[in-house]
Amino acid sequence: MSSVVSSFREGAVQSPSSHRDFPEEAWVNYESFLTRDPSPVSQQTAWDSPGQAAYDFRSDYVTSPNVAMLASIINTSLLDDVMKEDPTTNSFQELIARLTGHEDSLLVMSGTMGNQVALRTALLAPPYSILADSRSHIIGMEAGGPATLCGALLQGVTPSNGHHLTLADVKKHVTLREDVYDCPTRIISLENTLSGTIMPLEDVRAICTWARSQNPPIHMHLDGARLWEAVAAGAGSLKDYATCFDSAQLCFTKGLGAPIGSIVIGNKAFMKRARWMRKLLGGGIRAAGIVCAPARVAVEQIFLGGRLCANQETAKRLSKLWVSLGGKLQHPTETNMIWLDLEAAEIDKEHFADLAERAGIKTMRGRLQGRIIIHYQICDRALEALANLFADVLKGKREYRLE
Ligand SMILES: Cc1ncc(COP(=O)(O)O)c(C=O)c1O
Repeated sequence: MSSVVSSFREGAVQSPSSHRDFPEEAWVNYESFLTRDPSPVSQQTAWDSPGQAAYDFRSDYVTSPNVAMLASIINTSLLDDVMKEDPTTNSFQELIARLTGHEDSLLVMSGTMGNQVALRTALLAPPYSILADSRSHIIGMEAGGPATLCGALLQGVTPSNGHHLTLADVKKHVTLREDVYDCPTRIISLENTLSGTIMPLEDVRAICTWARSQNPPIHMHLDGARLWEAVAAGAGSLKDYATCFDSAQLCFTKGLGAPIGSIVIGNKAFMKRARWMRKLLGGGIRAAGIVCAPARVAVEQIFLGGRLCANQETAKRLSKLWVSLGGKLQHPTETNMIWLDLEAAEIDKEHFADLAERAGIKTMRGRLQGRIIIHYQICDRALEALANLFADVLKGKREYRLE
């Protein structure tokens, strides 16, 4: 039994005596919890190891929260965040604001909620439109949120360089005119990383400087679900990127491995309204320390602890192997994502996923097939199995060693 789990049990046993003034019947269920067979708690728990995540390449959001995160939950304050009274939440929001160079930040439950809260906060009076990369999450993977929640027109732009949006792309597609026919661009939403590729800081800066010089200025939003990865790759600091934007959302549940949570950043006035929008979406929660404490561990242990770099190295080694065996990639491997071009290799996508499963590893099925994500909990045996799978499907050769 891990010490964290045992301290959890000890803490639980002690708590009724510290609440003697509660009516006896209030503890009936609690007492039956304490007197039941303790074996389920004393056995290994899901917190003690990554479990299936060690063999799961489908995404970095499969990462399993760890024992340090559980310990932080046990030690968190449990006050109300809707009333802004929880010290763990308040100090975490201050930390993120400081790290990103913004005035304020606001805990939200997910990346989708973070994007939608930020967009809903920034958009005031229709008609309005949001310009974004046509491949971006807010266009394709948030259930039409901007249309439903904001009534916004989404304008998807395909980058002319095939990699990321530039100022030239933005200028070509933006709507500045305010004729009765027009739906003016009020937000430019960028995503970094996008499909694991990095948007260079200089292009972000160029778009941001131009957007701010417009009359009225165009709000710049960043979907930074994986901004951590761009920073870990050395593309710029959190502050370098985040200060280009009026709002951004960052996720704690992807490569950082927290159980729940994302954060929206911006200035104080923006956050005042964002708090309102979060409430509207049902995202105002009470004992938010339970979310913030493990999220803080995720930021400190995995991001600030430098744990993302090794994953990116592994992703590059695996990509090199795939290419050396004759495979092609759909996108360059710049962070922790590998995009195998299964079509070019004439490999049936479902068959690839079946073979992976037979080898004991999980790969994506459905629309993101061919995407392999390396996260910090992937084990060496899984990497070996994936390398062998590459060799199997491209060369029919077994036992390929990953260099
Ligand atoms: C770029 C990007 N933005 C936003 C999200 C949404 O995050 P969540 O699943 O926490 O809603 C994801 C999810 O994978 C994502 O990849």
